[in-house]
Amino acid sequence: MNIPDRQSIHGQWSSRWTFILAATGAAVGLGNIWKFPYLTGQNGGSAFVLIYIICVAALGIPLMMSEILLGRRGRATPIRTMKALATENNAGQWWQIIGWAGTLAGMLILSYYSVIGGWTLAYIVKSVTGTFTGATGDLAASTFNTFVGSASSLFFWHTVFMVITMAIVAGGVQGGLEKAVQYLMPTLFFLLLLMVGYSMTTGYFGKGLEFLFTPDFSKLTGSSMLAAMGQAFFSLSLGMGTIMIYGSYVPKDTSIASTSIMIAIADTGVALLAGMAIFPIVFANNLEPGSGPGLIFQTLPVAFGNMTGGIVFGSLFFILLLVAAWTSSISLIEPLVTWLIETFDMSRIKAALYSGVATWLLGLGTVWSFNLWADLKFFGLTFFDLLDFITSNLMLPLGGILMALFAGWLMTTDNTKAELHISNPLLYKTWQILVRYIAPVAVFIVLLNAIGVL
Ligand code: PFF
Repeated sequence: MNIPDRQSIHGQWSSRWTFILAATGAAVGLGNIWKFPYLTGQNGGSAFVLIYIICVAALGIPLMMSEILLGRRGRATPIRTMKALATENNAGQWWQIIGWAGTLAGMLILSYYSVIGGWTLAYIVKSVTGTFTGATGDLAASTFNTFVGSASSLFFWHTVFMVITMAIVAGGVQGGLEKAVQYLMPTLFFLLLLMVGYSMTTGYFGKGLEFLFTPDFSKLTGSSMLAAMGQAFFSLSLGMGTIMIYGSYVPKDTSIASTSIMIAIADTGVALLAGMAIFPIVFANNLEPGSGPGLIFQTLPVAFGNMTGGIVFGSLFFILLLVAAWTSSISLIEPLVTWLIETFDMSRIKAALYSGVATWLLGLGTVWSFNLWADLKFFGLTFFDLLDFITSNLMLPLGGILMALFAGWLMTTDNTKAELHISNPLLYKTWQILVRYIAPVAVFIVLLNAIGVL
């Protein structure tokens, strides 16, 4: 077997489970609970969900395997990993672009992720202080609109979120946070189940399920397919090197295939549960499913405001959402921070400070896109929507495809076989066909279709 004996200078996961936990922590975040439901609502529901699930299974899992494989073989930051692998496989050095573009994408995503993370912080305070007790849909909606209409509130909470994220990054991720995630993730899952339980009592549970799961293909457009694909990449954290970096710490004998499947199932499960919790409340309260990024902030408070123990559960829920957002935000900036450390030989604290300030500044554009700049449109999109579109729908899928092409075509079959060690030849062949042909072609069809070429 041809596996080089490289070690990452940053260490190795203590076991396969630590890796699954950390990767699931990076994957499960605002994308599942905040973004998935609002995109589903904006894109007409079930058909979007179906395309999303197909993208996770047919593109997400094989691409996650490729990204882990590249990371484990290179055992360094994405930029260095791609450099080493390009040399090892006699490929052009331009393949390093995967690392560069991914590092940039992480910073761009974090700039707006932090603003939404800030909303979560503000909602913890609102829940604890009982703002939502007895709330109607209208009250929740007007509370949200007043909140995002205030540039100073968003500015404040964005700043707080960024400071606490960078503080953890500066201190190193390993110790406390990873241990905490072990308990917090299952608790978040449990609370989501509780919310689904509440939704069952609204009388609109069936309508919610129908909206999510009875495909209505008439609602499917080129742009909703692109949104579903982009969301699959975003939610699984694929295409930007996070999974590659995490993969660089994976022990040699860990099965990449089964690990990837587990992460994808956990991630999709959380997103679907969030949808099942939210849409019955939307319909029961005559709220608008397509209302956009504010959807969970306008619906869940209604549920918490009207259930026994709502203050406790509501506060707990937003605290857990915050933790889920944290474990993802840290992973978003990790490629930039480690690159600064390696390249300029600076301390971790300094690297975190520089990355944090630059990302925070960029985040101001998102802060203002909900108020001062709400009417400022680029190609019909606000600054926030544009940033989200460019990163989720273009940079991540293209990054993912380049990784797939590299793993599928430029690495020798011997090498990929050795890394994946899938004993069943049929399964290996399936992976190879998916990354060589199906994934690149599918991504290009979806992209061309969305811009109206097809
Ligand atoms: N997957 C995260 C979420 O669903 O919230 C967001 C994310 C994290 C995207 C890390 C990309 C990434 F590299």
